[in-house]
Amino acid sequence: MSQRVEGEYRQVVVRLAGTAANATPLVGAEIGVAEGKTSEMLLRACPRLTLHMVDPWLGDRDVDDCYWQSGDDQARKTQREMDAQHDAAIRRTAAFSRSRAIIHHTTSLAVAATVPDDSLSFVFIDGDHTEPAVYADSQQWWRKLRPDGLMIWHDYGNYLSVGEAVRRFVAGLDLWYEHDDKLFLAWAHKTAKEE
Ligand SMILES: C[S@@+](CC[C@H](N)C(=O)[O-])C[C@H]1O[C@@H](n2cnc3c(N)ncnc32)[C@H](O)[C@@H]1O
Repeated sequence: MSQRVEGEYRQVVVRLAGTAANATPLVGAEIGVAEGKTSEMLLRACPRLTLHMVDPWLGDRDVDDCYWQSGDDQARKTQREMDAQHDAAIRRTAAFSRSRAIIHHTTSLAVAATVPDDSLSFVFIDGDHTEPAVYADSQQWWRKLRPDGLMIWHDYGNYLSVGEAVRRFVAGLDLWYEHDDKLFLAWAHKTAKEE
């Protein structure tokens, strides 16, 4: 991804998440945090936001691992590199209280099991980019969204697998969704009808 697109998609994620910012309390989740660049921007832009930051920061993956084979650079990092990203995410969000920037050092589905249904204003899905993982993340986190919540997917159009999963998911619920193919983003609003 070019530097320009990388910078811009974060601003658009922040803007999209901000549309949910009227909700009180405002609680969101970022699935796949890496170095915490988007987390920091979200926390800075939305002063009332409590953000679940979810990432296992797992390196040294087996070459047979589907995620390793997905083509995502992140999937092929060493544990030392992932530990450095975890440290960077902690540093970047150190200015915010840990009751606002809640770091979950584990997988998306493990955390989803602990989050109450209908409680989140937005979820930004940017974790394991394989088709089954994006689909499973979408399913599990959709039910965590409030009735007026927003789901945002990164790398739609960048990875075939992400597009396939998003289309399978939205087709299953007969959802309206939008996408920006330059910024590799897609998003869908939950409405009472679609619950
Ligand atoms: C593309 S990076 C995230 C970038 C970040 N969202 C940003 O905007 O800066 C993908 C991250 O997903 C994480 N990841 C992989 N499998 C995951 C899982 N099962 N649950 C949550 N995160 C996962 C990886 O460790 C990696 O750090």
